[in-house]
Amino acid sequence: MRTQVGIIGAGPAGLFLALLLQRAGVDCVVLEARSREYVEGRVRAGVLEQGTVDLMADLGVDARLRRECMIDAALDIRFSGRLIHLDLEGLSGGKLVHIYGQQEVVKDLIAARLASGGALLFEAEASRLEGLTGDKPVIHFKHQGQDRTLTCDIIAGCDGFHGVCRPAVPESGLKVYDREFPFGWLGILSESPPLADMTYANHDRGFALASRRSPHVSRLYVQCSLDDDVANWSDAQIWDELHIRLDDPGKTELKEGRILQRGITPCRSFVSAPMRYGRMFLAGDACHIVPPTGAKGLNLAVADVRVLSRALIEFFKNGTAQRLERYSDTCLKRVWKVVRYSTYMTTLLHRPPGQTPFDREIQLAELDYIINSLAAQTTIAENYVGLPLEDD
Ligand code: APR
Ligand code: PHB
Repeated sequence: MRTQVGIIGAGPAGLFLALLLQRAGVDCVVLEARSREYVEGRVRAGVLEQGTVDLMADLGVDARLRRECMIDAALDIRFSGRLIHLDLEGLSGGKLVHIYGQQEVVKDLIAARLASGGALLFEAEASRLEGLTGDKPVIHFKHQGQDRTLTCDIIAGCDGFHGVCRPAVPESGLKVYDREFPFGWLGILSESPPLADMTYANHDRGFALASRRSPHVSRLYVQCSLDDDVANWSDAQIWDELHIRLDDPGKTELKEGRILQRGITPCRSFVSAPMRYGRMFLAGDACHIVPPTGAKGLNLAVADVRVLSRALIEFFKNGTAQRLERYSDTCLKRVWKVVRYSTYMTTLLHRPPGQTPFDREIQLAELDYIINSLAAQTTIAENYVGLPLEDD
């Protein structure tokens, strides 16, 4: 097989890129290791920045989102019996956050790609990349039991944190920045009506978060130790901890319900730079991970491929590589600002093991500053709804 752009991975990064290139007449093939059913069933948070929603509208894939999404008009932070209520629209000059599961975004993108006849191969796992520093790199992959190759002009590494693209870069070609936080998130999906607003909490006993998937399904988290196990937590213990940390000791506000799913997620910031090696360009989780506190993973992947698509269109349509040469630097400017914000919110809201009394007082002083400062509230709001997309 042969194409202009070989895209490895049909997550948000790979799929948005494919639709952007296809619309501009750049030939591309998407190779996805898993089945369509698996990819569409992989439930992930969908906290969509305005820029992500605008891009879906621009691509004409936002019809179902408009019908089914929920709107985040406010962001609440609870601490010491007090409430910071951020009016996102007012603080951000009219921007909003749309709640629409990542798996729903992926379904809409896949449907659009297939409906337009775009090449998208499922159960096609890339195993080896060859000739990355030449002008005809080759992707070796297995599909329908056969060993196949895809010869490209460019490879887009959109294969997530555990893919093959980043490891294909020689160690000397990458600088890795990594910060693992000393705690995790115990998350549940429950058949219960959610709180009115996205609600974060910093309690003496630790972090909690009340989010939602629909008006009838809540997504709830409590900070737990890194070596914790869901088996250590009974339903009652999870609910009790949520009531306490969300400042609902009387159990009158947070509604309980059947727990549909539970699991523990680590909290980590990871960046590998540059986001390029020869003719391979990395995007999304393939080259950066953000702690979930900022809900930025999907949005950052979208921001990367928006820049990459414009660079590739210029390369194939005008024959110039200037944007491609700037791709990594352009994206990393945003990546580091988003990692900064996500790391800030993680540090602000969690109680790490061994936190000193001094650090606890600093944390409480920061929260007390935010509750009294329009400037501080504006800073959090403008990052939460999404910083302006880089015009490279
Ligand atoms: N060959 C082909 N496909 C692969 C390979 C491979 N060797 N390895 C991984 N993949 C696929 C995965 O199956 C997955 O569908 O690449 C895709 C990567 O998608 P994501 O991990 O979703 O990464 P990305 O598109 O960058 O989106 C980032 O997704 O996981 C969330 O929290 C993350 O919200 C963030 C968003
Ligand atoms: C979620 O809905 O799963 C969610 C919301 C906000 C976050 C992280 C996760 O910061």
